[in-house]
Amino acid sequence: MTESLRPRRSNLAVPGSNPRFLDKAKGLPADQVFLDLEDAVAPLAKPDARKNIVAALNEGGWGTKIRAVRVNDLTTQWTYRDVIEVVEGAGQNLDAIMLPKVQNPEQIVWLDLLLTQIEKTMGFELGKIGIEAQIENAAGLIAVDAIAKASPRVETIIFGPADFMASINMKSLVVGEQPAGYDVGDAYHHILMSILMAARANNKQAIDGPYLQIRDLDGYRRVAGRSAALGFDGKWVLHPGQVDVANEVYSPSQDDYEHAELILDAYDYYTSEAGGKKGSAMLGDEMIDEASRKMALVISAKGRAAGL
Ligand code: GLV
Ligand code: MG
Repeated sequence: MTESLRPRRSNLAVPGSNPRFLDKAKGLPADQVFLDLEDAVAPLAKPDARKNIVAALNEGGWGTKIRAVRVNDLTTQWTYRDVIEVVEGAGQNLDAIMLPKVQNPEQIVWLDLLLTQIEKTMGFELGKIGIEAQIENAAGLIAVDAIAKASPRVETIIFGPADFMASINMKSLVVGEQPAGYDVGDAYHHILMSILMAARANNKQAIDGPYLQIRDLDGYRRVAGRSAALGFDGKWVLHPGQVDVANEVYSPSQDDYEHAELILDAYDYYTSEAGGKKGSAMLGDEMIDEASRKMALVISAKGRAAGL
């Protein structure tokens, strides 16, 4: 998947039932948009939402944004029709299908096979449409590595905190914030780390989910900062105001980017000067070796992608 390494710092949710929001989303500086057929769209509005989404994708104007569509999960009756109508109608203007509440790798295999059939029928390039898998319950988390491996189309593993909190009976209604009464660390640490490990082990992107207090940008920044610090690639944005914060939080700081470039230069300089016989070097008082070089490469690549 060529899309898989493109930045996805901000992932903007847009309800497919609202043509005005679909139009407005085109002009926002989000790295990815996902046009929603699932929880932001009422059951009776889903047929029209499919049509709005096909029209909005085919109209164009999305710039360099990654264009995804979130279909309904496989416990509903809507999923197959969502995929067929959207991909047959707009498959050439679509980068990925997002599957919510994934519980096992078979659900990814089902989607992969259906996408292949549609691509063959329509004469589209085979394998071009990616899959984004949302992990939103205990079954999904336990199977997350197998889910990440289930198809080469999988590009991202996404944490769905709202559904996850509900599914495990967490005693909190404020998505992303710590549940009251749990005062010994971060209640989400295990979930975030499990998703991140599955993503990194399988060369996928790890994406954090929504923060529902859309006017509280400090809260958004705080919660985003935690998953960004662990190594997540981006987070959902539900409101235009959150886009710039996500783009900033999931990019390296200018200082870190410049430091990373210095490490790479110093490492190259010292090791090549020693004719390839030296494995470490000094940058001021800092000792750098092959592992520091790898860390610097990650920051440098993210910084360049962010245009620093
Ligand atoms: C997103 O889908 C969530 O449930 O948090
Ligand atoms: Mg959800």
